[in-house]
Amino acid sequence: MTHLSVNINKIATLRNARGGNIPDLLKVTIDCQRFGAQGITVHPRPDERHIRYNDVTDIRPFITTELNIEGYPSEKFLKLVFLVKPHQVTLVPDPPGVLTSNAGWDTGKNMSLLKDVIAALQDKSIRTSIFIDTKLQNIEHAIDTSTNRIELYTEPYATKYHNNREEAIEPFRIAAVRAHELGLEINAGHDLNLDNLTFFVQKIPNLKEVSIGHALISDSLYFGLENTIRMYLRKIEMGQQQN
Ligand code: PXP
Repeated sequence: MTHLSVNINKIATLRNARGGNIPDLLKVTIDCQRFGAQGITVHPRPDERHIRYNDVTDIRPFITTELNIEGYPSEKFLKLVFLVKPHQVTLVPDPPGVLTSNAGWDTGKNMSLLKDVIAALQDKSIRTSIFIDTKLQNIEHAIDTSTNRIELYTEPYATKYHNNREEAIEPFRIAAVRAHELGLEINAGHDLNLDNLTFFVQKIPNLKEVSIGHALISDSLYFGLENTIRMYLRKIEMGQQQN
C-alpha cells in the first residue's frame, strides 16, 4: 500500500509571514493524521524560512503515524535528527538558499558522504531514503550506499504529464523496476497533485510512500484540509486498484 506523507513546510511558511502562531503547525500536524495521512514530512532548511528546528522537536511527541525528516546532512541537521529520532530521514542534496529541492543526488560522486551518513542513521534504527532522479547509474550506485529506500524526484514527470503522460512516466517506471530488482524500496515526491497522482501510483509498482506538500496545502484553501487529504488518499487508492 502506498502511504501519503503530508509535507507541512508550507504551513510554517504561512505562519512565518506574520510572526505569530497562525496557522498553528502543531494543530495541523495532529489534524493531518486525524484526517487519514499516514505520515508527516518536514524539511528544515539552514535559514529556517519554513520549518524551524524547534518546530520539529515540538511536533515530535504528537506524531502517531510516521515522521519523515528531509534535508541536506549538515552537522546541524544530523544533530536534530539524532535528537528527534524520526522513523525516516530523506537525504536531499540541497545547496543552502535554494527555493525548493530541484535535483537528486549524484550517488556515485557523493558515495562516501552518503555511506557514512546512512550507516550512522541506520545505527540508530532510522530508516533512510535518498532523493534521486531516474538515471539508472544513480539507482545502481544507491545500492552501494546501503540506503533502505530511494525517493524518486517527480518534478520532470509532473512537468511532462499534461503533454504526454505515457512518455512522462516511462523513465520512472524503468527506474522503479530496476530499484525493486536491486532490493531498494521506493518513495516519490515533488509536484505530485490531484491530476497526476493516480496515474503515477498506477504505473509505479511497489511504491511505498508519496510525500506531498505544495499542491495539497494549496488545494486545501479551496476544499478544506480534511476533504483534501481524503481526496489525495482516494487518488492513491484509485491508482492502486488499477495497477
Ligand atoms: N520531496 C522532497 C525531497 C522535497 O524537497 C519536497 C519539497 O519540499 C517534496 C518531496 C514535496 O514536494 P511538493 O511540495 O512539490 O509536493
